[in-house]
Amino acid sequence: MALVEDGRRVLANLVHSQERAHAPYGGVVPELAARAHLEKLPGLVREALDRQGLRGGDVDLVAVTLGPGLVGCLLVGVGLAQGLAAAWDRPVAGVNHLWGHVYAALLTQPDLEPPLLALVVSGAHSDLVRMPAHHRFEVIGRTRDDAAGEAVDKAARTLGLGYPGGPALDRQARRGDPRRQALPVPSLPGLEYSFSGLKTALLYRVRDLGGLDALDEATRSDLAAAFERSVVESLLEKLDRALDRWPAPEVVVCGGVAANTLLRRRAEEVVGGRARLTIPPPSLCTDNAAMIAAAASGAPREADLRADPSLDW
Ligand code: KG4
Ligand code: ZN
Repeated sequence: MALVEDGRRVLANLVHSQERAHAPYGGVVPELAARAHLEKLPGLVREALDRQGLRGGDVDLVAVTLGPGLVGCLLVGVGLAQGLAAAWDRPVAGVNHLWGHVYAALLTQPDLEPPLLALVVSGAHSDLVRMPAHHRFEVIGRTRDDAAGEAVDKAARTLGLGYPGGPALDRQARRGDPRRQALPVPSLPGLEYSFSGLKTALLYRVRDLGGLDALDEATRSDLAAAFERSVVESLLEKLDRALDRWPAPEVVVCGGVAANTLLRRRAEEVVGGRARLTIPPPSLCTDNAAMIAAAASGAPREADLRADPSLDW
């Protein structure tokens, strides 16, 4: 739940983390997630307004995610947004979650404007997109199988690092050496990604080392570092290629996986002097509401507020 001014200035950005509720199950349980939205959102609306000393009537526009995402959560959000808009007599804007990730970069860099090239890496997406103008996106590359975040989460599970996997793998990898247990860097022709082979390579490596229980802490760290390196190098190899083919003055790396320490560092090196690189701070890379407000600002209004779990760009 967030309050954003003029689509650019974050006044409040509240995240109720559900990690603890889902951790015992090793992944997100859709019904629990929807129920938590229902339970927590109204209080967060109150809290965001109170902290700023604002009232509902001060809000000009209510923005809400239409998808992609879990249908139960989307429906709770749309229902609440419609209720608030009716109570405050204001319009509602439906937003594509993926657009939100890119707009997080505009909250980060005040003078950032399209045209830009973006690498969007989250739990379900590894997409290279061109943004020629506001609210216009063109996909030029995507994954053939697993998304980067999904691969990272599965690898964390294979290594017994728990849930949520991304941050755990990031921490573990910092203690390891990526060369000692090197894994292949997946590479398909063109701008397509594939991470399922890498996931299997890790599984086999752990098996060849005698299974998870036989791994010492140093080896687990080396495996985490090797896996992280392969994902990051693959992501950046295609970004590098995309930038060669479609030079752009601005490059954005965003989505939950862009919180990753190695990806953030290596992206700087790969983009180099060819473009200005913007990576939102980690709190704006992982899912948040401020990015949804940013994407809604100035966007053409959809007449229809249909939640769509499989919404694409
Ligand atoms: O964008 P996001 O918050 O939610 C989706 O829209 O999916 O992305 C979540 C993904 C998860 O797979 C999570 O493990 C990953 O981002 N992630 C990370 C890190 N923080 C979150 N992956 C690697 N390193 C991190 N520090
Ligand atoms: Zn997301």
